[in-house]
Amino acid sequence: MIKISPSVLASDFSQLGSEAERMEKCGADYLHLDVMDGRFVPNITFGAPVIKSIRNRTSLVFDVHLMIDEPLKYIEDFKKAGADIITFHVESSSPAEETVDKIRECGCKAGISVKPKTGVEEILPLLEKLDMVLVMTVEPGFGGQSFMPETMEKIKTLRSEIERRGLSVDIQVDGGINEKTVEIAAAAGANVFVAGSAVFGAADPAKEIEKLRNLAAKA
Ligand code: DX5
Ligand code: ZN
Repeated sequence: MIKISPSVLASDFSQLGSEAERMEKCGADYLHLDVMDGRFVPNITFGAPVIKSIRNRTSLVFDVHLMIDEPLKYIEDFKKAGADIITFHVESSSPAEETVDKIRECGCKAGISVKPKTGVEEILPLLEKLDMVLVMTVEPGFGGQSFMPETMEKIKTLRSEIERRGLSVDIQVDGGINEKTVEIAAAAGANVFVAGSAVFGAADPAKEIEKLRNLAAKA
């Protein structure tokens, strides 16, 4: 099932609550919340208290992308803040399987992410336990970068493995997704699309979400 997840990284942080409400009205499925710690990535954004502060403003699924060094330590905090899906990086220093187990014990959906240059081999044995794999299509850390088409091979591998095993794991793409690249990612097998600049930078975000959804559906 196709899902569009606008990234608040490109929103007006001084109005985060209304930006979340606005995305719900615009027809988004998820709200993508990029948590950065200045260690795992060279940028700092926000943490659990900020997410908690907007939880009662929308019923959108909170799709929390942890770009932090020690995700395992903070899973409960993000659950309490209202996360629905928690995705962490396989390159982080937390043990992957234990972190997935912790996320699921908390009652959240679990995702693992790979940076553009990281292979998916380490993730394949964990597929049965996962709800989502996030294949980064830019180096994590900043919005507004260009989509890296070389990451599509990993999506094809994942999609065929998911199908071969009869699983229903979502494949999310994040970074440089717009009207030109959404079809490429969808054709490779992605079904959850994060879009920051494309949605928040559009004159009509509702139309943009609809366009991205339609382009993905026909790919
Ligand atoms: C990058 C973040 C992305 C970012 C995407 O590290 O994970 O979610 O907000 O922004 P765009 O869509 O502008 O590339
Ligand atoms: Zn992200």
